[in-house]
Amino acid sequence: MSPRPQAAVNAPSATAIPGIPAAMHRGEEELPFVYFTDGVEFQLMQVDIELGLWIVRTKFAPGTTVQRHRHTGTVYAYTTRGAWRYLEYPEVNRPGSYLYEPAGSVHTLHALGENTEPADIFFAISGANLNLDDDGNVESVTDAGSVLRTYLQGCERAGLPRPNVIGA
Ligand SMILES: [Fe+2]
Repeated sequence: MSPRPQAAVNAPSATAIPGIPAAMHRGEEELPFVYFTDGVEFQLMQVDIELGLWIVRTKFAPGTTVQRHRHTGTVYAYTTRGAWRYLEYPEVNRPGSYLYEPAGSVHTLHALGENTEPADIFFAISGANLNLDDDGNVESVTDAGSVLRTYLQGCERAGLPRPNVIGA
């Protein structure tokens, strides 16, 4: 049996099945990285406001520490560059590390100062990050809705067109 011609494999008409939802692709260049907080920039790939789901790729400059937070939902994280850890725990996330954060977990993200490039992390987050002050009070909330607003504003401020975030 001869192999399928590549053109037939790539052609949507050859693989799309009526009534079956298609996979949704976004190239890296389609979704710009924008400012999130000092030392942090991010790319928002997908949101589901009703589910409270947000899928981001985040870059933390070497030595960056972000505000301690508590999660109302789960987090699945995968690191592709740089090293980082939560100050409350000894484990260091490095390229290839996977991290699961249960709902209710509390921690302070720190990108190691010896990194020679930003720590580059994929996060799939459900629910809200409750950002805590030194006394453990909730100071601000980050969730799917607020992160979408921040992303759209960041793109607008950078003079970029509205990004094609899945679910937005
Ligand atoms: Fe977290």
